[in-house]
Amino acid sequence: MTKKRLVMGNWKMHGSLDQNAQLLNQLIADLGNAHSQTDIVVCAPHPYLAQLQQLLSGSPIQWGAQNMSEHEAGAFTGEVSATMLKDFGCQWVLLGHSERRALYGETDTLVLAKTQAALQAGLTPVVCVGETEAEHEQNQTQSVILQQLQQLLELSPDLLRRLVIAYEPVWAIGTGKSASPEQAQSVHAYIRGLLQQAEAPNVRILYGGSVNPTNAADLFKMPDIDGALVGGASLKANDFLSIAAA
Ligand code: G3P
Repeated sequence: MTKKRLVMGNWKMHGSLDQNAQLLNQLIADLGNAHSQTDIVVCAPHPYLAQLQQLLSGSPIQWGAQNMSEHEAGAFTGEVSATMLKDFGCQWVLLGHSERRALYGETDTLVLAKTQAALQAGLTPVVCVGETEAEHEQNQTQSVILQQLQQLLELSPDLLRRLVIAYEPVWAIGTGKSASPEQAQSVHAYIRGLLQQAEAPNVRILYGGSVNPTNAADLFKMPDIDGALVGGASLKANDFLSIAAA
């Protein structure tokens, strides 16, 4: 099975109606045929999903959210459900980003519950994993990733095949210090092995962490890197499109 490359922008908590309109209109205008070989997705803060739906409907650019609740509805003040995301045309949702794990205490069990809720609603969950700098220095990368993925790998192969995994080493996020293509590939190969054992070998594995127009092409040459999850560079239309076209 040939996998289409996937390049996703994670805007994090950035944007305004004006800035978003400018960015999205430029993405649409300058997209060229980048989408012919690559799925292109932007993930915005929840309040702007209606704007994305309005501006991106009918364009080849897809959109998603950066988080959601594990619950379907109820007394969960401040939360947003998968069905609500679907109402605004989202097809994608980032789950278990390291910022959510570190700053908001998201556990592997919670990420699993959110993943199941997203799948149930027909969204594609993009589950983020990755080790911290200290774990990296202590050669714990594989054990950390295994721990983060273990419960997910027990999903049925049919469900597992609907996921995307994003490997984002925490030490590479927003630091300008990307993992080298070889470093990233070795972790992706490890994740691929786990997915193979779980009968889902074709799940797309994205790399995230200081991806930019200069390093994207070399990362994408690696056999197990199926695309990128882009933070800072996704806020500049030219940079994001260069990565998508790399
Ligand atoms: O989710 C993407 C992100 O964490 C990577 O951020 O700014 O290093 O590309 P950045």
